[in-house]
Amino acid sequence: MCGIVGYIGTRKAQPILLDGLHRLEYRGYDSSGVALVDATLAVTHASGRISELETKLGGTVPASTCGIAHTRWATHGPPTEANAHPHRDCTGRIAVVHNGIIENYAELRTELEARGHTFTSETDTETLAHLIEEAMKAGKGLTSAVQTALRRVRGTYGIAVVSADQPDKIVIARLGSPIVLGIGDDELFVASDASAIIGHTRDVIYLDDGEMAVLGREGHRVMSHDAKVVTKETTELDWSDEDAQKGGHPHFMLKEMLEQPEVIRNSMRGRLNVEEGTAVLGGLRDVAGRLRDIDRLVVVACGSAYYAGLVGEYMLEEYAGIPVEVELASEFRYRKPLLTKRTAVLAVSQSGETADTLAAVREAKMKGALTLGIVNAVGSTIARETDAGVYNHAGPEIGVASTKAFLSQCTVFALLSVFLGRQRQMSLSMGKRIAEEMRRLPDLVAGILEGRDAIRAIAERYAATTDAFFLGRKYCAPIAFEGALKLKEISYIHAEGYAAGEMKHGPIALIDATFPTVVLCPKDSVYEKTRSNIEEIRARGGKIVAVTTEGNEEAQRFSDDVIYIPKTLEMLTPILAAVPLQLFAYYVSTSKGIDPDKPRNLAKSVTVE
Ligand code: M6R
Repeated sequence: MCGIVGYIGTRKAQPILLDGLHRLEYRGYDSSGVALVDATLAVTHASGRISELETKLGGTVPASTCGIAHTRWATHGPPTEANAHPHRDCTGRIAVVHNGIIENYAELRTELEARGHTFTSETDTETLAHLIEEAMKAGKGLTSAVQTALRRVRGTYGIAVVSADQPDKIVIARLGSPIVLGIGDDELFVASDASAIIGHTRDVIYLDDGEMAVLGREGHRVMSHDAKVVTKETTELDWSDEDAQKGGHPHFMLKEMLEQPEVIRNSMRGRLNVEEGTAVLGGLRDVAGRLRDIDRLVVVACGSAYYAGLVGEYMLEEYAGIPVEVELASEFRYRKPLLTKRTAVLAVSQSGETADTLAAVREAKMKGALTLGIVNAVGSTIARETDAGVYNHAGPEIGVASTKAFLSQCTVFALLSVFLGRQRQMSLSMGKRIAEEMRRLPDLVAGILEGRDAIRAIAERYAATTDAFFLGRKYCAPIAFEGALKLKEISYIHAEGYAAGEMKHGPIALIDATFPTVVLCPKDSVYEKTRSNIEEIRARGGKIVAVTTEGNEEAQRFSDDVIYIPKTLEMLTPILAAVPLQLFAYYVSTSKGIDPDKPRNLAKSVTVE
């Protein structure tokens, strides 16, 4: 949610900052801006995409070798040029970029205006620039002025600040919104996530909450907000620049869908022990004893990660025999979660930075529960704050609509079910059966992806619809929810996902010839029941797109369109069934001329509550 990039070094800053903004555009893209500092401060803003900012900047590259930049996803104030970051103080010599929300900005603004400050935007961020201005006027240097300002604010932030009065310095700070410092040769970078700077360096330092850093010409210094020096470890990123690029595909979403066979392989690599019918999850080794004793698992997650959690619920209850509840992380702490020492709370998050999921983890920790993570972004806050966890190894996911991360989350849930199941009652033969079948998944997914032209043809036929239902039962119910989310996110079509049996309890009233239903009806233990639901819809004139198992000829008779997926174990079917729905949403989106990587109103990582 919003992206920050900063540079100080020996090269001209502007091209590096613009390149970083392009890489971060997936985090927010309603306005952007850049501040270049030397003896003066030059700030340029534009509303709309980064290309608008580039047009405004023109062809001349300024000599400045230090600057900060921002791409915004609006929280306070509409996405106008005036509200674009960086924000300045009254003197125009200090510039701030900020991710997060200053909760007490209204009272701070009233107070600052009463003291004569003039605001030029409607944002919460601008209060920070004026607070820093006051502290510098009182004689403090930039670093100490930032510390003073931060003591006044409530809320969350990842910030980068420059001042024309100390032009060889960038001050950064973090509380609740990620900031990473990149270390190059004679140059330093800052970013809200590493994909912005991976083209320049792989050596990064993740700031923790309550930490700040000063980036200068002589190096960097990390400290706590109260100025105590903190020694930090440098992490070497294990993904490449190429991983974060489109690789010749028109969209990141397509590239990421096509990567899924490899992603599943990577999620399973070194983790499946077919001989012993179990999963080896190194990240859980230290808590294996505690896991043997848990009597309940609560999954907390948002969006697609929540639906992956629902898939996990079916898997874990059936194969590990552990009672599982899946909670929307955004609601978790508003209830009174009843957690004991034998409850494990498992956060599922691609970014590892989702504010609500992180807050749920902290709530669970406070109540003494064992906290676990299924996280994709290595070194992210949730990965670091949970007691133990399993990384997805899906590589960076840039497309706003989650695809490969979702599939890898379901894959990790299957591994976890085998691991926890084998700790309990699961037989060796059952463990082996699942492990063997899991090994086939990458090829099965590759086969579905190869058939994408047929799915594109179907999608194009439905692109003009204004509404759609997605139905599924048992393991495929969460996939129906996920399919509906995908379609609405990137095609702006009203879509609802329902457990198939719920249809006749109300939603069927909406069915007519203009309201198509995508039904997940693989040949599994609930096939006949879902088949009846299809008849109920057909009887009311509704159109059916069936996703069913290869060889199911009768589907041609009861459907308007059929998409086939290969046969696998029922528990693994959701991993296959999700793929055609991703492709369907993608092709509906592109045939409507929408950019699926940057759907309106959305941002990749939701780091505000
Ligand atoms: O980074 P996270 O997995 O925590 O993100 C959770 C949701 O924001 C995310 O899955 C969102 O729903 C996606 N846009 C779905 O495609």
